[in-house]
Amino acid sequence: MDEELEAAKEGGWKEFAAIDAAYELGTLGDAGWHEAVTSLVVPAYLAAVTAEGGSGSSRDAQSWEYARSLLADAATPGQTFLDIGCANGLLMESMANWGGVEPYGVEISPELAAIARSRLPQWAERIWVGNALDWEPPHGFDVVRTNVDYVPVPRRRALIERLLSYSERLLIGVFNEERETRSLERRVAAWGFAISGRSERSHPHPRLAYRAFWIDADDAK
Ligand SMILES: C[S@@+](CC[C@H](N)C(=O)[O-])C[C@H]1O[C@@H](n2cnc3c(N)ncnc32)[C@H](O)[C@@H]1O
Repeated sequence: MDEELEAAKEGGWKEFAAIDAAYELGTLGDAGWHEAVTSLVVPAYLAAVTAEGGSGSSRDAQSWEYARSLLADAATPGQTFLDIGCANGLLMESMANWGGVEPYGVEISPELAAIARSRLPQWAERIWVGNALDWEPPHGFDVVRTNVDYVPVPRRRALIERLLSYSERLLIGVFNEERETRSLERRVAAWGFAISGRSERSHPHPRLAYRAFWIDADDAK
């Protein structure tokens, strides 16, 4: 394992690896896994002094836009856009600005959802608390965005299936990955999902890229 590269991809990767290992050993069940992950990330988001920090990014506003705005390539103005794991709502707000979408959010942490509602009172009714794995949406969405690491490894295929059941397009990203591999895309394709499109940008680390890809419900299988 290249520790320098792992650290560039994701802060706290060692702690996440320990949680995954405990889940694999059976020391943690599903509820314990979510609890361990949220107690690792949520306090840092709540203590953040920038809007980007409140959404889990250590970058400034300009770098936030550079890294995240490739998501707008997957949506067209006027579409409904659900952000899974909306944290303080910054991506909802950003996607409305970059892509002209109608944003919605769901968040596992009630404290973060409350912050998102108070930052975005105009959309407070569109921000829900729930775990993406079993949350029941009130209606479908044109685009639903997620990352697969919001659930334990063996639940990732089920997460994709579930989100595709109420979206026209499931957008996965933004994540960081070695330039030369498309390992996440390959893994998802191996689960039987057809990849309908992708977008990427270079990363400050020369061996990494910021990436997103999407699956259209029409050609999901
Ligand atoms: C890195 S932040 C993402 C913020 C923003 N959506 C973005 O992409 O920039 C991840 C958020 O997902 C939330 N989250 C993690 N697992 C979740 C799950 N299973 N269901 C709903 N939200 C989840 C976390 O609490 C955290 O606020």
